[in-house]
Amino acid sequence: MIRPLVVGNWKMHGDGTWLPAIGAIAEAAAVTSSIDTALCVPATLIERAATRYPSLSIGGQDCHPDNSGSFTGDISASMIREAGGKLVILGHSECRSAPLETSARVAAKVRAATTAGLRVIVCVGETTAARAAGEAVGKACDQLLASLVGVVGGNIVVAYEPVWAIGQGITPTANEIAEVTSALRLTSVQAIGSASPILYGGSVNSENCEHLFHSGGIDGFLIGKASTEAKSFIRVLKLAERAVGNAALS
Ligand code: PGA
Repeated sequence: MIRPLVVGNWKMHGDGTWLPAIGAIAEAAAVTSSIDTALCVPATLIERAATRYPSLSIGGQDCHPDNSGSFTGDISASMIREAGGKLVILGHSECRSAPLETSARVAAKVRAATTAGLRVIVCVGETTAARAAGEAVGKACDQLLASLVGVVGGNIVVAYEPVWAIGQGITPTANEIAEVTSALRLTSVQAIGSASPILYGGSVNSENCEHLFHSGGIDGFLIGKASTEAKSFIRVLKLAERAVGNAALS
């Protein structure tokens, strides 16, 4: 069985005053032993968080495909690694909304991050229009295949994040999630030769996480808003752990 993984995505939230919150999350993660926990923070916090709380996997939220160069404002996978980061989110829809952020470029980033030794969370997900047209499965799988071109080995996690669910307070039904995630599981085998853990992301919170974990055919969550408050993220960790325990009993 794939070990469950819960990842927080702080997006552009958090400064030095948020370090105690990371400490509280690290403490809770250390006693939530049946799931892995990670937190992807703004680049400015990676080194401080990784140094102060070495037991928690700290990650970045994007990287450049190159190792170094004249790319003002960018950060490379090796820089994230050097700062103590262990993972990186790539292909998030908030990044894919930039015209240059094609799946080919995401794949180049995935290759760079893999080479740098980072675990990679590759995000895919359909828009409202694609879902309405009955193309959710096709779009998500096409995006994943194109985002993994040339990727060999590495530690790849897939996050299914329907664009219309992110930050909206609405989630697909567990069946709708399971339909896409089961197809993504097969697609990851097709692309890289092994089944990646599949996370769900999009308005996950302490109210819906247990149900989604039980019925969504997933191995964990990528959580935005509910991860920015330590208390609510820790609650999700505890509920996810309970869901894992219940699944083992059933
Ligand atoms: P949300 O964000 O949980 O706030 O919907 C999820 C994400 O963007 O990864």
